[in-house]
Amino acid sequence: MKKALILYFSVYGTAKLTAEEIAKQTGADIVEIEPANPYDSDRNHYNSLARLAKREHDENLRPEIKNDMPIKDYDTIFIGYPMWWYTFPMIIYTLFEKYDFSGKTIIPFNTHMGSSDGGTYATIKELCPNSNVLSGLPVEMSDAERGVPDKIAHWLNKLNIKYRREPK
Ligand SMILES: Cc1cc2nc3c(=O)[nH]c(=O)nc-3n(C[C@H](O)[C@H](O)[C@H](O)COP(=O)(O)O)c2cc1C
Repeated sequence: MKKALILYFSVYGTAKLTAEEIAKQTGADIVEIEPANPYDSDRNHYNSLARLAKREHDENLRPEIKNDMPIKDYDTIFIGYPMWWYTFPMIIYTLFEKYDFSGKTIIPFNTHMGSSDGGTYATIKELCPNSNVLSGLPVEMSDAERGVPDKIAHWLNKLNIKYRREPK
C-alpha cells in the first residue's frame, strides 16, 4: 500500500491521541488541521467553546485552516475530528470545500461523548461523491484518552489496511 495520510482536528486532544495510534499502527503520515483562529483547549472553558461552536454551526461558517494539507501526495486519507453539536466541527466543511478528494479513499474516525459518528460518515459520502469512503471508527472520549489500540487494530484489519507494528 502507498503511504497513507492522517488529517485530524482536535481541541481537547482525544482525536489527536486516536490519530497518533492510527499512525503508529499503519506508518501513515500525520498532519493536524490547524485553525487560523485557535480554539480554547482549556476544558474549564467548555461553555464558551460550546457557544462558539454553536454559533459557527448555526451561521454555517467556514473557519479558516491555517496550514496546507498535502493531500495530493496520497491516495488514502484518514480524517479525524470530534463530534460538535451532533455533527463535525465546521472546519471540516472548510476542509472538504478547499480540497478535492475525488478518486481518493477516505477513512473517517471521530471522538464523541455519546453521539457516535452522528451521521457524519454519511455526510462525508455526500460531500465526496467521487471518493471511496470506508467504514469509520467512532471512539468515545474516555476510551480515546485511555487508548484503544486493540479496537483500532481490529478496525484496520477489517478494512484490510496493512498493519504495521514497530518490532519490539
Ligand atoms: C463544542 C462541543 C460540542 C460537543 N458536542 C458533542 C455532541 O454533540 N455529541 C457528542 O457525543 N459529544 C460532543 N462533544 C464532546 C466531544 O466530541 C468530545 O469531548 C471529544 O472527545 C473531543 O475531541 P477532542 O479531544 O479531539 O477535541 C462536544 C464537545 C464540544 C467541545
